[in-house]
Amino acid sequence: MSDLNTVARALVAEGKGILAADESAPTIKKRFDSIGVDSTEANRRAYRELLFTTPGLGEFISGVILFDETIRQQAADGTPLVEVLDRNGIVAGIKVDAGAKPLAGSPGEKVTEGLDGLRERLAEYVTLGARFTKWRAVIVIGDGLPSRYCIDANAEALARFAALSQEAGLVPIVEPEVLMDGTHTIERCFEVSETALCSVFAALSRQRVVLEQMILKPSMVLSGKECPRQADVETVALQTVRCLRRAVPAAVPGIVFLSGGQPNEVATAHLNSMNASGRPHPWQVSFSYGRALQEAPLKAWAGRTANIKRAQDALHHRARLNGAARHGTYSAAMEKELVGAA
Ligand code: 13P
Repeated sequence: MSDLNTVARALVAEGKGILAADESAPTIKKRFDSIGVDSTEANRRAYRELLFTTPGLGEFISGVILFDETIRQQAADGTPLVEVLDRNGIVAGIKVDAGAKPLAGSPGEKVTEGLDGLRERLAEYVTLGARFTKWRAVIVIGDGLPSRYCIDANAEALARFAALSQEAGLVPIVEPEVLMDGTHTIERCFEVSETALCSVFAALSRQRVVLEQMILKPSMVLSGKECPRQADVETVALQTVRCLRRAVPAAVPGIVFLSGGQPNEVATAHLNSMNASGRPHPWQVSFSYGRALQEAPLKAWAGRTANIKRAQDALHHRARLNGAARHGTYSAAMEKELVGAA
């Protein structure tokens, strides 16, 4: 599995997708706050062990994105978590950006940091067992936003990250996220997404990134969360694929969507609709969900050892449904099939 083309293709294997479990310290604290659990090292370790030891998870999950702390942790029995994943047939990856920081000269916009010293950090992650990396850029839609400056600054950083990852023998997951917050229409989201993606692929080309050895992690083309006119599932699927077809070269093996705050079932239904019609697509159309995979197990766990099995069932259920959405065979009726559901 050392060859980058092989790893990239394995990450978007038929029927499978990625679990994003790379919440930074402030983000995991927010998630734990929602279930009344302290964000201690021990609790974070226990939670991630629960997720990764879910029986049969490897049937629907090809890879897991880890946070720096997690890639260095062990399961309760002393097995490194990376090895736990490997035994489940799951590839380990690592988030390597240092977060989105205010963009100088453009109030309200952000640029992602983390390029300094990245070459050295990547070399260490290789020794820790990572096979792929992730870098997230955020684009805000608002009054007069985004600026071309913000789009291009983020694209440049994404491409530098991707080139360094490939140099280190790691498959980069390039994530330009257009946030769904706001009152904007789906048409405006389409326009911004297309511009941002075209800028990203121009930068990737300038920086000699091998498209066959990377994965794109975009947001879907959606109506803004506060837009009074909400596009339906079929429209979102149609417009998202239309936008991607314009901007993403066919050499890219796969597109894995982030969930971005969509309700779990909606994120699954959108993916399903994209895979149920308009095929064959030039690339695999898959998922790399954080919240849309973890919300149910997080709630079921609530920090209690006695709830581990219920939490694992909840994760397995969502992974299976998104696996079905990879084939376009998901239906709302499957939501009720959770064994032992309360
Ligand atoms: P969400 O699916 O919760 O948006 O998280 C995916 C991710 O990795 C964001 O960087």
